[in-house]
Amino acid sequence: MKILDQIKILIISIIGLNIDRVSSWQSQSSKSRPNIIFILADDLGWNDVGFHGNDLISTPNIDALAYSGVILNNYYVQPLCTPSRGAFLTGMYPIHTGLQHHVILATSPYGLPLKFTLFPHYLKGLGYSTRLVGKWHLGHFRKEYTPTFRDFDSHYGYWTGVIDYFNYTDAFETGGSPGYDFRRDMKIEYPKIGTYATDLFTDESVKIINQHDRSKPLFLFLSHLATHVGNPGTPLQAPEEAIQRFSHIEDESRRIFAAMLWKLDESVGRVIKALEVNNIQNSQCGKEEVRGSACVWSPLLNNPGRVSMEMMHMTDWFPTLYHAAGGPESALPKMDGKNVWDSIQGNSPSPRNEILLNIDPVFNGASIRVDDWKLLYNPYDINYLGPELNTWFGSSERDFSGNEYLTSKKNHFKNVENSLAGKIVQKLMPNIFQDIHIINKKAENRLQFYNSTAIPPGNKPEDPRGNPSNWNNTWTNWCDYIDQNSNSCVV
Ligand SMILES: *[C@@H]1O[C@H](CO)[C@@H](O)[C@H](O)[C@H]1NC(C)=O
Repeated sequence: MKILDQIKILIISIIGLNIDRVSSWQSQSSKSRPNIIFILADDLGWNDVGFHGNDLISTPNIDALAYSGVILNNYYVQPLCTPSRGAFLTGMYPIHTGLQHHVILATSPYGLPLKFTLFPHYLKGLGYSTRLVGKWHLGHFRKEYTPTFRDFDSHYGYWTGVIDYFNYTDAFETGGSPGYDFRRDMKIEYPKIGTYATDLFTDESVKIINQHDRSKPLFLFLSHLATHVGNPGTPLQAPEEAIQRFSHIEDESRRIFAAMLWKLDESVGRVIKALEVNNIQNSQCGKEEVRGSACVWSPLLNNPGRVSMEMMHMTDWFPTLYHAAGGPESALPKMDGKNVWDSIQGNSPSPRNEILLNIDPVFNGASIRVDDWKLLYNPYDINYLGPELNTWFGSSERDFSGNEYLTSKKNHFKNVENSLAGKIVQKLMPNIFQDIHIINKKAENRLQFYNSTAIPPGNKPEDPRGNPSNWNNTWTNWCDYIDQNSNSCVV
């Protein structure tokens, strides 16, 4: 089981539903169908993103979409790459596709069963062009199992679970002889060795958007390698200049991870920019039996800038996005996934009151959520996911040190507004962040008021106001934000 070294999988999907003209939405002609950009990030933890409160790692582009879209706070995915991807593309729980145990290894002679017709097939029926960029991981032992034989018009990326971020070899599950794994459709592709994989996938996605035939709607599934580990030996990899940005993070693993995530966030900004340049206005962001980080961005959302507590599972995207694309539910096969579009778009109650998280007799674990309760079978058995899967790369920022926190306190929200995605979102929705500023100002004022009534620390009880110069010292730094270049307080 050494081959499993250091895998832990969380998935974030940032999905974009894009529409050319919102007003023609009702007509549902093929021309007005929304473009759908589904960005999936592997191994991204709940605590890693800014929109869940992480100020130490910077994800301003993702946060901009989250704050101006809908944050999905009860969204669940599978804890591994293969089962999660299978659930997304079939709408079926892994126990119904046979993928409930583990991932498909490079040498595995099986794949997602061919009896399942995948999500892109149904979108093609609605006139979509269907593109996959990045990781597949649903089988490759026969060509029939690979993406372009399963209704993706094109694929640029890799078939297995892991590649090196700079030379694209999989040494993970191959018994010591690494194999090169990078393809354009069925042909081996040789990008310039040393180009960071996240950049390759972003460049390709931008190219697809730029060259997209506007007479057709687009489904782009950007299935990133990031922030999954690379090969054993060099599990965490990021360009040096990205790592430099996080010199304030003391833990080396966490520092490199932050850089990997920063590159992923940059990718999201660049994709949104490409959509804007091509006047494709958009939508969405999503993640893992583990509760996933997810959000949806779309001009079709009612009351954007909210948090949805409605239950959703990875399997729900298929019927949900098919519905959003204007497809009739009657055209879909029976599946575990449910159409939750109304709860995303309009905040109505989710049709779900339960989510099967998994049943895996091999690792001897199972879990289900029913209403507000979750039943975990055998949760404390370290072998439930395999001891190797319990590896952590540095601390989460729930317990970071005071120094790191102070260095990183650079007004999270200003960075969000100034990010590529943040600027675009504000162009499309000029008032979207206004409430946050108003409430922030109000809260600051209230805090200052309470401070003026506080007994300064160290002062005698009979001298409640203490020495004003003392308490002034405590509050000299009321900054609207810290300017990152000069590191100075801007009021
Ligand atoms: C790819 O890069 C890794 C990490 O630097 C290295 O260990 C491996 O030998 C490289 N493989 C090839 C084929 O260059």
